[in-house]
Amino acid sequence: MKLLLLSMGLALVCGLQPEYSRSEEDLSDEKEQKWVQLSRHWHTVVLASSNRSLIEEEGPFRYFIQNITVQHGNLHGYFLTRKNGQCIPLSLTAFKTKEAHHFKLNYYGTNDVYYESSKPNEYAKFILYNYHDGKVNIVANLFGRTPYLSNEIKKKFEEDFIRRGFRKENILDISEVDHC
Ligand SMILES: *[C@@H]1O[C@H](CO)[C@@H](O)[C@H](O)[C@H]1NC(C)=O
Ligand SMILES: *[C@@H]1O[C@H](CO)[C@@H](O)[C@H](O)[C@H]1NC(C)=O
Repeated sequence: MKLLLLSMGLALVCGLQPEYSRSEEDLSDEKEQKWVQLSRHWHTVVLASSNRSLIEEEGPFRYFIQNITVQHGNLHGYFLTRKNGQCIPLSLTAFKTKEAHHFKLNYYGTNDVYYESSKPNEYAKFILYNYHDGKVNIVANLFGRTPYLSNEIKKKFEEDFIRRGFRKENILDISEVDHC
């Protein structure tokens, strides 16, 4: 109650519009707009995983993103990946959930996908919790609007990954490797 009074007080002080003036529809449009910033072309720059074989040559998460399109708040990603030496297209859809920044993806088992970037004109960071055959692994993706990203962005991505308790050897900078 105290909190409620406090926030009402703050709302009055700040002269905020009451919440009910915005319909559900307005809010969902707003959310959609936010994700639309993620659309268009991307490049895979750094991959990291708790299980390195998932992101090594021919691993299921060694994928090269081409672009993202956003529809009804769901993210459609178009990738290339290598199977038996051949580059094949891979189309994945991460479906929105009730939580902002959290998506569900069916690929190599199931995945909880979290989007974690604040600069969609520069880079996007996705953290996947992959559930496959009773095993849980993390896969972290750093995508860039350009094929190369600054050392500063890459370093921060690496530090975040290592802070989660994973080894530096499990981070692969693939900006220099053949992207199919
Ligand atoms: C690591 O990934 C490989 C597939 O590339 C899988 O066969 C193996 O079971 C996984 N290991 C663990 C500990 O998750
Ligand atoms: C995404 O990339 C693929 C492959 O390059 C292309 O066929 C498709 O038209 C692109 N989609 C958009 C929306 O740019």
